[in-house]
Formats: sequence, C-alpha cells, structure tokens
Amino acid sequence: MEFRFSQDNLDKIKDILKKYPTKKAAIMPVLYLGQDQNGWISKEVMTTVASELEITEEEVFGVVTFYTMFYKKPVGKNHLQVCTNVSCMLRGGYDIYNQVKENLGLENWGVTEDSKFSLEEVECMGSCGTAPMMAVNEDYIENLTKEKVNEIIESLKSKN
Ligand code: FES
Repeated sequence: MEFRFSQDNLDKIKDILKKYPTKKAAIMPVLYLGQDQNGWISKEVMTTVASELEITEEEVFGVVTFYTMFYKKPVGKNHLQVCTNVSCMLRGGYDIYNQVKENLGLENWGVTEDSKFSLEEVECMGSCGTAPMMAVNEDYIENLTKEKVNEIIESLKSKN
C-alpha cells in the first residue's frame, strides 16, 4: 500500500532539512517521522523516504536494518525489545526473553491479538552496564529480573 507523508509531516521535513547540510544527512529524523505516522517502517515508507531525500532505497534500507529503533514489522502499542546480546545474556537475558514470551504467549516479532503488545529479540542496545535490559517503546528498563518483568507487563496490561 502506498505511503505518503501527511501535510503536517511534510512541513516538519522541510524544517528538519534546514538543520542538515545535505538531504541524506536527515535520514534518521525523516525515517522516524515515517515510523511515527505509519506505526512501522514498511517498504513503502522506505520508498517514500528515499524519494523525499533523493537517495537510493538501498541507502534507506541499510539505515533501517542497522538500528533497532526502527521497526521492520508491524508492532503492538507496547513494543518490547529484549536484549539477548553478550552482557545481557550472561546476566540472564534469555530468562527475561523467555519470561516475556511466556507471559504474553508471543514468539519473536509476534503481536498479541488486541495489538497491545509485541515482542522483538534484539542485539545490544548500548545499556550493557545495567544488563539485563529491555525497551518498552522508547523507554529503557534496566537491571531486570523475571519478577520485575512480570510486574511491568501486568502494569501495562492494566492501562489502556
Ligand atoms: S548486551 Fe544488552 S544492552 Fe548491551
């Protein structure tokens, strides 16, 4: 399905471009706007971003696939990214990941039926000193335990 930026976001892109020396340099904030509008970075979002910034789709793809902040598939209202890279793994990252899987009944990239939660296993998110960790949307939650994970999920379940 075709993706077009809203007029509001086109205006924001204009302002963003004023802050960067080249259009290509603005790729991160423009992608972020695309994700904000669409909910995730679909192929159509990448095509539109490439066109807006006059760069190739491959250049956009390279950035999207490198950063965990860009969602490559549809996600739930609360997207849980659990790190299982080395530091987190050594401090129980897989216990945390499995706890989330079990609590929500999800596999990697799964989304709950009510679209309230989704799960993604990720590589290092740069918070190794406070491992194990996960992100709920843009918030990092660190020094996790299995009990803490359940508390967080139950608290999110009780919210809208
Ligand atoms: S290894 Fe998990 S945040 Fe770095």
